[in-house]
Amino acid sequence: MADDSFTITDNRTGESVTVPVVDGTISAAALRELDRGLWFYDPAYLSTANCDSKITEIDGNEGILRYRGYPIEQLAEQSSFLEVAYLLIHGELPTEAEAAEWIHHITFHTYVHEDITRFIKGFRYDAHPMGTLVSTIAALSTFYPEAKDIDDPYTRLVQIIRLMAKMPTMAAFTYRNRMGLPYEYPVNHLTYTGNFLRMMWSVADPDYVPDPTLTRALDVLFILHADHEQNCSTTTMRTVGSSRADPYSAVAAATCGLYGPLHGGANEQVIRMLHEIGSFDNVAAYVERAKSGDVLLQGFGHRVYKNYDPRAKIIKETADAVFKVTGLNPLLDIAMKLEEVALSDSYFKDRRLYPNVDFYSGLIYEAMGFPLDMFTVLFAIGRTPGWLAHWVEMLGDPEQKIYRPRQKYTGPDQRDYVPIENR
Ligand code: SDX
Repeated sequence: MADDSFTITDNRTGESVTVPVVDGTISAAALRELDRGLWFYDPAYLSTANCDSKITEIDGNEGILRYRGYPIEQLAEQSSFLEVAYLLIHGELPTEAEAAEWIHHITFHTYVHEDITRFIKGFRYDAHPMGTLVSTIAALSTFYPEAKDIDDPYTRLVQIIRLMAKMPTMAAFTYRNRMGLPYEYPVNHLTYTGNFLRMMWSVADPDYVPDPTLTRALDVLFILHADHEQNCSTTTMRTVGSSRADPYSAVAAATCGLYGPLHGGANEQVIRMLHEIGSFDNVAAYVERAKSGDVLLQGFGHRVYKNYDPRAKIIKETADAVFKVTGLNPLLDIAMKLEEVALSDSYFKDRRLYPNVDFYSGLIYEAMGFPLDMFTVLFAIGRTPGWLAHWVEMLGDPEQKIYRPRQKYTGPDQRDYVPIENR
């Protein structure tokens, strides 16, 4: 067995250091033995592991995704979103008693302070729901000053329960405010996801119960979005959390990261792209535009998956169940033709670009009646337990400190100030 190590020689001094290869990584600490003034230059962290984590494992080549060792396929088929949230945050699947307590606490924390409901009403009817959501999450931090005591496990757990419980309420209230509809307050007799759908869609119907197939489908989508190791928004959560900010401020920052069209905002862009393509006949031309760099094929490609995103496969299967209830989304045919054309084209094959989690999810959301700009809000609800699990793990990791990378300075050398009259 080859010795799992590198030997690095500094030719400037002739000194060498042996750097062990551990879990596919080499430690920068070994390099610092050679020269404490050296940094790894790695824009966008393409080849950087910022932590070790026990939460989610991805094998990008094999298209594998596991939460705490459990394959995503099994969790999507057999688990529930709240159970997966418990698994991600606590590390193990709950016993019946643990699950009952977890669900009870979340169920009884779904209300937000009435001042928050007024805060949401301060946004215009056409405010993008993600802008409202990130602001409201940040505002929540002002209601729970005790949340700053991040070293106390009980205080952390209370904020985790509050954030899990209130994300759907804030999301639904954001939608209701945009529609000029009165808020539909949470109830305690429905499931987590059923309660969210009731808050979204119930109008003048105190007995409203959401469709069980659609409720299950959305719960599966939340499971699929729950965590994904060091993606942009989760790294943002860890970065802000590393300064010891409260969890509401960190989740608000993570939600901002998710908002971007290259990240969580892609599900909205996919549907806009499919509407722009408009018909079967236009697919080939659009793919050519993507190959020329004129447009991105939204919902395609991934920094880690160089194979089919396992979540996209499950979402495609979930779509069948949803469309049986809602009727087929006419964009599905265009999406499937786009996938077929792209996956047979060397541009995409050579770059190992496959459909990702966002490629099909929007088709389901649209068929369920969600407006386009609510799609990333749904992603945020699903990703909240992942963000919180990484926050807790980072706080408990003795190797972690405040995130503070260095840079390569390439700006001007020292120069003297020039008064404005001489410029
Ligand atoms: C999510 O990180 C996560 O885990 C994210 C996520 C999660 O669960 O948290 O999985 C959720 O964000 C999924 C990704 C959603 N974004 C999109 O679907 C937007 C479209 N995809 C691309 O923007 C892109 O694929 C990224 C951003 C997802 C990944 O970009 P990378 O890894 O930085 O790759 P790259 O941009 O360097 O692309 C490599 C090559 C380039 O061509 P060349 O310069 O080699 O000629 O592939 C091309 C790119 O131009 N390319 C695409 C493309 N994606 C990459 N060309 C056309 N369409 C695309 N979608």
